Amino acid sequence: MNPRVAPKYGIGFASLLDEASNAPLSIMGIVPPGLVGTMYRIGPGRFQIGGFTDGHWLDGFALVSSISFGPRGATCSNRFLASSWYRRALMEDAIPAGAFDSRSIHRGHHLSNDNANMNITIWRNELEALGDTPQSILIDRVTLATIRTRPWAHLRRCCASSPHPVFDHMTGERFDLLLSSGEPAGYVITVTSPEGTTRRLCTLPSSRLGYMHSFSVTPRWIVLVEGPFTAYPRSLSSSRRPYLRNYVWDAGRGTRILVVDRRTGALKATLPTRPLFALHHINAWDDGDRILVDLAAYADPSILDSLTFDHGEVPAGDFPAPLATRLVIDVEHKKVLCLPLKCPPGEFCMIDARFSMRPHTILFAAGPTRTGQLIDRLCRSDLTTGRFIEWSSDNCFPGAPILVPAAADGPEGEGWLLSVVLDVREQRSFVLILNATTMTEQARAWLPCALPFGLHALFVPEETTK
Ligand SMILES: [Fe+2]
Repeated sequence: MNPRVAPKYGIGFASLLDEASNAPLSIMGIVPPGLVGTMYRIGPGRFQIGGFTDGHWLDGFALVSSISFGPRGATCSNRFLASSWYRRALMEDAIPAGAFDSRSIHRGHHLSNDNANMNITIWRNELEALGDTPQSILIDRVTLATIRTRPWAHLRRCCASSPHPVFDHMTGERFDLLLSSGEPAGYVITVTSPEGTTRRLCTLPSSRLGYMHSFSVTPRWIVLVEGPFTAYPRSLSSSRRPYLRNYVWDAGRGTRILVVDRRTGALKATLPTRPLFALHHINAWDDGDRILVDLAAYADPSILDSLTFDHGEVPAGDFPAPLATRLVIDVEHKKVLCLPLKCPPGEFCMIDARFSMRPHTILFAAGPTRTGQLIDRLCRSDLTTGRFIEWSSDNCFPGAPILVPAAADGPEGEGWLLSVVLDVREQRSFVLILNATTMTEQARAWLPCALPFGLHALFVPEETTK
């Protein structure tokens, strides 16, 4: 990186080499006494190895962070996932084959990549890191040590997967979406029972496969939104190109919405709508014979290109921001309406999880103050009125917001909003604690280092960590 031209947020794209274990945090403000538990966050954390630099931010080696709040203060830990991909990198002192969008001195396809740096979940008391290949990594919740890589062994021929499984908190089921290169090639949906038994619900044959980062489940339906950013199935499993470069944007194809009966696995409808690119579905629910799906829609997939490290340089923009958009899917009349929601552009949209699979009105998101800029504010929007309130601070770049409800039976969106924020002037990160209703600061818990920009996070209250 050339420091003369590096943008001021460059440290957010720089490697963190020092791991930490239970480092004490300095608190500015007052941590709410009821906020007791651990926030986990994941993202790319190291971008160089040997003499090589990743070609894309998403090829950074997975770094897991935990920030624990309790009566004796706050501590943080950082640890790299010991994925087989990372261990191979350390052994070879080079970027291994199978990267998302980086060149390697070796050949190999993306399936060999278990660098699960995209999402972190907890289910059946297991903390799990996920990427976009059908394998995940189980992590010790206290030490952040890698327990093991869990391949979806019964799903041979699946070459990619969504890092966002959907959990039905009413039934205890888990849904996963995978991409199969044969035979037949198509989308594979699995359902795992609360007891942990996984079965293949359906395979939806498709001659081309969309870039599927997430999908939706309602009490009746499963909804896939296939934007016109697609790849040939065989190329995903056998091409020598970096994974991302197998996908081609063709707006003329439009978007296909695939509606699957959740109970039987039958494909109920395939409906067209305008071209869009979405990484994240926000929420979905049933309304009679209609399905409402909220997602964060980009005009095209250029967000992925904006995160490349061109000749080792930090991404310099433009960073497109998605618009929260509602798809109103009329299954019986085979019509789709595509409506913008009343809120500013933003990513990492978060609803009150108690409103999952039913209508919500409050939406939290991280977005840019100005078009094309990096995310520099957090917003709380009332979708019925369009009124929003925000938090921002000079030289500060927040990550994904996490809502921690203050009470199980409190109003929607009430509680605390947490986010890991990078202060580029201080060259350090802090965990921001906001009153989620007013978006006013309650506290900053300062880390001893600058954490690289991350992706998703979650909060595990104390009572469920035992
Ligand atoms: Fe994601």
